[in-house]
Amino acid sequence: MTAQPIRLFGDPVLRSPAAPVEVFDKELRNLVRDLTETMQQAPGAGLSANQIGVALRVFTYDIDGVVGHLINPDLDLSSEMEEGPEGCLSLPGLTFDTPRAIRTVAKGFNMHGEPVVLEGSGLLARCVQHETDHLDGVLFIDRLNPAERKAAMKEIRQSEWFSAQPPLVKINPHQFDRWF
Ligand code: NI
Repeated sequence: MTAQPIRLFGDPVLRSPAAPVEVFDKELRNLVRDLTETMQQAPGAGLSANQIGVALRVFTYDIDGVVGHLINPDLDLSSEMEEGPEGCLSLPGLTFDTPRAIRTVAKGFNMHGEPVVLEGSGLLARCVQHETDHLDGVLFIDRLNPAERKAAMKEIRQSEWFSAQPPLVKINPHQFDRWF
């Protein structure tokens, strides 16, 4: 069990859709343990596997003391939405009110390949949507209105963690265009 470095905005792994898990083996169980430990050490309310550089459809959550994981999530969303504060371990320091469905039913599997249904509202629903977005290569700032998103991008560009990332020094305009 080892906590892993969390990938930050600008890392291409956060923009690549993750692949479904097909083999429920020891390696997968190790991934779930690493992900859980990394999330708890951060600490965070949720973490997706691509945030630690593994492009598989797995996320963990820690909501109101309930710690768990979900593999290959398939979501049903309520049509009713609500705005609420949201942040992301891959975008340190940023918090923006983000619209999300109030209730979710998330179907998937546990690390032993057994079917699991995770049903909830409020923070759990927000977490499940945030993490499943990660697995689709989507970040919470993509869910903001254009003005808020512009403000978020400005904060990112001014942040120390963003300017400290070596690959971003070499970034070309075409790659940058994709994020807006
Ligand atoms: Ni996140």
